[in-house]
Amino acid sequence: MEVIILPDRHKAAQMVARIVAKELRANLRLVLGLATGRTMERAYDCLVDIHRTEGLDFSLCSTFNLDEYIGIPADHPCSYRRYMDERLFDQVNIPKANTHLPDGMAKDLGEECRRYEASIVAAGGIGLQLLGIGSDGHIGFNEPLSALRSRTREKALTPATLEQNAPMFGGDPANVPRRAITMGVGTILDSARALMLVTGESKASILAKAVEGPITSMVTASALQLHPRCQVVVDEEAASELKGIDYYRWVFANEPEWAEFQDLA
Ligand code: GLP
Repeated sequence: MEVIILPDRHKAAQMVARIVAKELRANLRLVLGLATGRTMERAYDCLVDIHRTEGLDFSLCSTFNLDEYIGIPADHPCSYRRYMDERLFDQVNIPKANTHLPDGMAKDLGEECRRYEASIVAAGGIGLQLLGIGSDGHIGFNEPLSALRSRTREKALTPATLEQNAPMFGGDPANVPRRAITMGVGTILDSARALMLVTGESKASILAKAVEGPITSMVTASALQLHPRCQVVVDEEAASELKGIDYYRWVFANEPEWAEFQDLA
């Protein structure tokens, strides 16, 4: 795991977008794993900007989102399908048929989860997985005690998650669906590369647990310590409780891979 600390949330989002753009230019058929949440909105804004100003081509890539709520239709204003269409898919040249989210309205949800896993495998596996972190340490909707080898399945959301996501549902946690389909921790760990974006003071304590704490299913983001190629891009506020800050900065300044990103530091 590597931690990259940038001055603010905008630079952190730019970094993530530039890494995605670089991967996509190197492999036009990239299979992208995508995340939702307010943090990720800025990264998608930057990606749309790169598409518009530099002609970044999405026409051959395909995408798989981490999760979707159960029980709200795709065209519901708060569905993750709607979020992705509005924030990214409708703004770039990706064919809709190449974009995948679990169907939270499927009659047989267990079958839908198996189908989703199989479609990721059929696409060749996820090349680059974007991630955020929930206030309870979840990745996707892998709530505390999710098995670290779990695959795509249904999950009940914790009260902390309902609270965190309430602003998107008019502010009342009671309006947030209580269940979701999510890729498992094991599914996420199978990606070739993982890139987590974490910003803001409110994430400082959970980020420190995920990055520097023990690997535990109580904080499923800590499982990323097992990922062979995981980078965590954070702003100064989110980094404020990390113990190894000086070392992380040193690595970022000295690794040749990051030379072209030094203007963001
Ligand atoms: C939701 C998503 C997670 C995401 C989290 C972060 O819970 N299921 O994948 O990481 O939101 O949200 P935010 O960026 O709004 O803090």
